[in-house]
Amino acid sequence: MRRLIISLVQSINGSFAQDNWSTGVSTEADFRNFIALRRRASALIIDRRTALNPQLPVINAPGKALEHTPVHVLTESDPDLLARQLGDIGVDYRARQFTRDTLAEVVASLATRADTDAGEDLIVCESGPNLAFRLLEHYPGAELLLSISPRYIHTAGSHFSGLQADIELRLIEVRTEDDQVFLRYRRA
Ligand SMILES: NC(=O)c1ccc[n+]([C@@H]2O[C@H](COP(=O)([O-])OP(=O)(O)OC[C@H]3O[C@@H](n4cnc5c(N)ncnc54)[C@H](OP(=O)(O)O)[C@@H]3O)[C@@H](O)[C@H]2O)c1
Repeated sequence: MRRLIISLVQSINGSFAQDNWSTGVSTEADFRNFIALRRRASALIIDRRTALNPQLPVINAPGKALEHTPVHVLTESDPDLLARQLGDIGVDYRARQFTRDTLAEVVASLATRADTDAGEDLIVCESGPNLAFRLLEHYPGAELLLSISPRYIHTAGSHFSGLQADIELRLIEVRTEDDQVFLRYRRA
């Protein structure tokens, strides 16, 4: 079974995005770790909406560090239409269809970088939460790497509190018990 790491960053109040961008949730440390993980990947998985977003930089554009990293766009929708749309915007991303039943098979068949060090057959998923949790549900052995920023994000997507506030926090303790993680913060 191929190693699959799903990378997600969230705020302390459970937002995956601010105004539709994950950058508002990320921090410098999160970004450093995200880039380091990306560079170890022998292939990347992204979702259809990320792949077709013209405002995002092309991950494996010629001349970039990830030029030789295959980028796979997994979709439950029509992969031929998606392939045409990717062609139209001129990106070297590969459209692949999956169903819940075929997900493991599809991940196992994805092309990976030829120059990757032996033993590091690592696929990294950089999708949003919908595809991420689909992979977690249907790919046995998938790992979720959850990065939690010390940020409170107020958006329409932050369901659990309507408070409009900018609260700067410092993490002062991390404790685990069984599979529960306790994060203790104090105002900066
Ligand atoms: N915090 C993070 O780490 C992180 C990372 C990436 C993006 N984001 C943010 O998360 C938000 C959502 O990201 P996203 O839309 O790019 O990726 P997403 O949450 O993975 O959803 C995109 C794709 O998932 C599929 N999907 C399956 N079930 C769905 C459902 N019930 N609702 C919607 N889509 C479903 C659809 O693809 P098919 O129809 O093709 O199957 C859709 O195009 C954005 O605001 C993005 O900026 C956060």
